Amino acid sequence: MSKRKILVTSALPYANGPIHLGHMVEYIQTDIWARFQRLRGNTCYYVCADDAHGTPIMLRAQQEGIEPQKLIDKSNIEHQADFAGFNIAFDNYHSTHSDENRKLSEAIYLAAKNGGHIAQKVIKQSYDAKAEMFLPDRFIKGECPKCHAADQYGDNCENCGATYATTDVINPYSVITGTTPIEKDSEHYFFKLNNFDAFLKEWIKSDSVQPEIANKMKEWLQDGLNDWDISRDTPYWGFKIPNTEDKYFYVWLDAPIGYLASFKNYCTKNNIDFDAFWKVDSKAEVHHFIGKDIAYFHTLFWPAVLKSANYRLPTAVHCHGFLKINGLKMSKSRGTFIQARVFLNHLPPEPLRYYYAAKLSNTVDDIDLNLEDFQLRINSDLIGKVINIASRTASFISKKFDGQLAKELPDTTLYQQFIDISDSLADAYETRRYSKAMREIMALANLANQYIHENQPWVLIKDDATKEQVQGICTQGVNMFRALITYLKPVLPELAEKSEQFLNAGALNWNSPATPLLNTRINKFKPLMTRIEKDKMDAMLEENKQVLEAMQDSQVSTTSAKSPLKSDPISDTIEYDDFAKIDLRVVKIMKAAHVKGADKLLQLTLDLGGETRNVFAGIKSAYDPSELEGKMTVMVANLAPRKMRFGISEGMVLAAGAGGEDLFVLNPDEGALAGMRVK
Ligand code: MSP
Ligand code: ZN
Repeated sequence: MSKRKILVTSALPYANGPIHLGHMVEYIQTDIWARFQRLRGNTCYYVCADDAHGTPIMLRAQQEGIEPQKLIDKSNIEHQADFAGFNIAFDNYHSTHSDENRKLSEAIYLAAKNGGHIAQKVIKQSYDAKAEMFLPDRFIKGECPKCHAADQYGDNCENCGATYATTDVINPYSVITGTTPIEKDSEHYFFKLNNFDAFLKEWIKSDSVQPEIANKMKEWLQDGLNDWDISRDTPYWGFKIPNTEDKYFYVWLDAPIGYLASFKNYCTKNNIDFDAFWKVDSKAEVHHFIGKDIAYFHTLFWPAVLKSANYRLPTAVHCHGFLKINGLKMSKSRGTFIQARVFLNHLPPEPLRYYYAAKLSNTVDDIDLNLEDFQLRINSDLIGKVINIASRTASFISKKFDGQLAKELPDTTLYQQFIDISDSLADAYETRRYSKAMREIMALANLANQYIHENQPWVLIKDDATKEQVQGICTQGVNMFRALITYLKPVLPELAEKSEQFLNAGALNWNSPATPLLNTRINKFKPLMTRIEKDKMDAMLEENKQVLEAMQDSQVSTTSAKSPLKSDPISDTIEYDDFAKIDLRVVKIMKAAHVKGADKLLQLTLDLGGETRNVFAGIKSAYDPSELEGKMTVMVANLAPRKMRFGISEGMVLAAGAGGEDLFVLNPDEGALAGMRVK
């Protein structure tokens, strides 16, 4: 097969915030794909950059009392360090605030204008007269016109989910000065997206987007395409629009052009033909990896903008879902906005790469990082299965056979399975079905362990009559390990490199397993990876909590408006109506007992004044069961029963405190309170 030429990108992270584990889903997904392509022998460049423009960055710099340039320089360094920490192998990492990007953005805009795709219109916009600036929707808050919740954003309500025009917000105020915005006229520049209606309708059919996204695009196209406002008034942090006095390109115009700019910067430094990748009839491939929240920008605006300036179109836009942590949206108040840097302060990067790979597919479904499952999975799959193969076999080769591998494999039929899987795994990687690939790899790891278990080299080695067989068995083991590591190399490059050192036969490529390693000398086996310990995870979460608290004190709203596909915003409050649903009752603890096998739970029998309930409560650290019997407490009586490992829990007891021994259940004087409603 002839070698492919591929350019890969991930979305450009905003320069005004740190990289968190949600971001990492995308960079890890892309990096695995790029590394896979290189392992197959294709030419694959992976470029990215910081998205350095826009109002939030301008205001953030003001707040910190520094120039925007200084802010984006600082964040560029931090972002690159975080990515390097997770072994993301960019070929180039640039900034949208660069000469290349300015030139490309101006040229693309002028080409679109010459083609008749730019319109000028005077529009009314909200203006903060005190700050002397026009206000992006996100910088206006007020009462929701629909459900009347207070302090909602200017474009949508986090309480009822309504979207509306900023002008409909009741009692609006500027987030910057708190003053009431006024309406002011201003001339804006628009990209006439509708000129590309027919083109986009065709483009959907080209397999360049996933079916879910194609369906969403169909809806957008059916609703009709509006002109897209690509200009912003001064003061703005960005590129000035050619032939204007004080108009700037909206950040989302020059951001995707940043893909071209970063690649251009790389091509210049490395003498690569930029046009061979970007001219209309290019034979190269261009793949964008993005999150579902920014699909609109990448599947409507971006192809249309490229088309308007006579560039080639992306081969594909690959969209992924959002990261959840322990089944919930990442949340600052829950402390689950886990920063990449904080994670790296306590834990190695490759387990997370593996965990994401084991969860990622080619759909836009959200993926869940369950922290307990993460620890179990790594310890069982990577340590217990994969590395175990090498540690159980390589040491015999080193100690008893002077590092020398046998001349042939004792079980070629078994080994053949490790070769035959290659195509299926390659297809899974190519189509981003990483979870499928990881499952197949682990199934092979199970076979390898079974083989070792059945052959028991540690028994055979003790008997002179069978000692020589051990060299063959362990050579088989080392080769099965080598095949697995080859297939895992895109996901676990560091583990692969350490393994290559000990295998002592050069760098592995996708076809290495086809030729087993025989009759050569390997190096001494050193531990390749360590187990994940709970105290490390806890320390990481604790540091993250502190970092978040410190940040919260110094934040304006720094999120930007995104498309209709974004996942729901995080809300830290509930409405009265939700609260009213909770049936709180004073109850008497009739019986309290230890639960066999549970570290934290006590089993409580509660009297609701006639009715009895069985409830498991996580208060063992604070109470001895005998202290509780006869006491009163408050419970949620209408919580749906939940099946637990120890039985069914029929409600929840309320407790307060810092945790550990400081955990208190309500304990009023005894009386005829049992079953009484609390509100
Ligand atoms: N600056 C824009 C992208 C411009 S591309 C021309 C942006 N930046 S971002 O920092 O908000 O997000 C960068 C990427 O990370 C996006 O693709 C986004 O979808 C992804 N993610 C951000 N948070 C995420 C999760 N919680 N989960 C998964 N991906 C997430 O958007
Ligand atoms: Zn509302």
